[in-house]
Amino acid sequence: MTPIKRIGVLTGGGDAPGLNAVIRAVVKSAYNAGIEVVGLEDSFDGLLDSSRSRVLTPNDVTGILRLGGTILGTTNHGNPFQYPVETPDGKVDYSDRVVETFHAMGLQALVVIGGDGSLSIAHQFYLKGIPVVGVPKTIDNDIVGTNSCFGFDSAVAFAAHAIDRLHTTAEAHKRIMVVEVMGRHAGWIALQGGLAGGADVILMPEIPYDLDKVTAAIRKRESFGAKFSIVVVAEGAKPIGGGVTLREEAKPGYVERLGGVGIVVAGQLEDMTGRESRCVVLGHLQRGGGPTAFDRVLATRYGGAAVELIRRGVFGKMVANHPPDIVPVPLADVVGRTKTVPLDSDLIKTARAIGVSLGD
Ligand code: F6P
Repeated sequence: MTPIKRIGVLTGGGDAPGLNAVIRAVVKSAYNAGIEVVGLEDSFDGLLDSSRSRVLTPNDVTGILRLGGTILGTTNHGNPFQYPVETPDGKVDYSDRVVETFHAMGLQALVVIGGDGSLSIAHQFYLKGIPVVGVPKTIDNDIVGTNSCFGFDSAVAFAAHAIDRLHTTAEAHKRIMVVEVMGRHAGWIALQGGLAGGADVILMPEIPYDLDKVTAAIRKRESFGAKFSIVVVAEGAKPIGGGVTLREEAKPGYVERLGGVGIVVAGQLEDMTGRESRCVVLGHLQRGGGPTAFDRVLATRYGGAAVELIRRGVFGKMVANHPPDIVPVPLADVVGRTKTVPLDSDLIKTARAIGVSLGD
């Protein structure tokens, strides 16, 4: 096996707190193993044009552990296999150019830090011969094969903090406060953020909701003397028999944008309960800012484990959190799937047991 001396690292898709912590760990552990790291800018765009890259030394990553965002930049519409362009087709396949640039830059392996979309692209490049290692990132926590993605804990902590603050204003005005959180296909943030914040109702993509049931739950609270209620809604939640609320349809290179279910639910609940309702959309506040201590540690372990796999010549894998270990799992088993909240999970059972309405 040829010793690995130079590797690339990129961050892809929507950002998440902890991206910089992974980059830092990759750079530091690679440096200590005698491997040079090249940071590729703006996801796979950094492999379309070698000028959009720079060598990263430990000095370049000093102080970034606690920073949100990514020092490399990211994009969620630059799939080189279907790159969006202004042609009648709307897309072009640049994947061969990526492979050529990768070799021309003298890279021997690639660390892709991303969610399902970026990991799927990474897997396609692995099948085209690029030695790839993936690192699972998403605040939505919906990547299969790993117990947790970095970024999720930070998003949950932020949601819980926001719900704490909404409690006092909800109580003062005797209102229903609807809090829309992220989570396209999975309700992990809604459920864990809602439980941590003491929400009364949690609506998530896994359980289509019936607002008659939600109204009944709010009335039941009122019969016990409660004059306000907190309703957490995942952006991907939908009513029984209905669809998700879209902000923007999908277009070439871009997935559809969700958003707006919170305002719809708030309006309907106001009509149905007669109680004033307001909606707060947490949106990108959940993705911004620095990582929690948990995410810093997880991200650091992921970065170190990714370099260790490269040193051992193990490719086509994603590093995964299987407590107490970080283990490699095949990218082929991960991509194109979604880890939703199991309906028989302890989290769901606990929510029901303490009387949280899940809208069903
Ligand atoms: O995938 C993570 C996520 O936070 C989703 O929950 C959300 O729908 C999406 O990113 C929004 O991404 P952007 O605004 O960057 O398109």
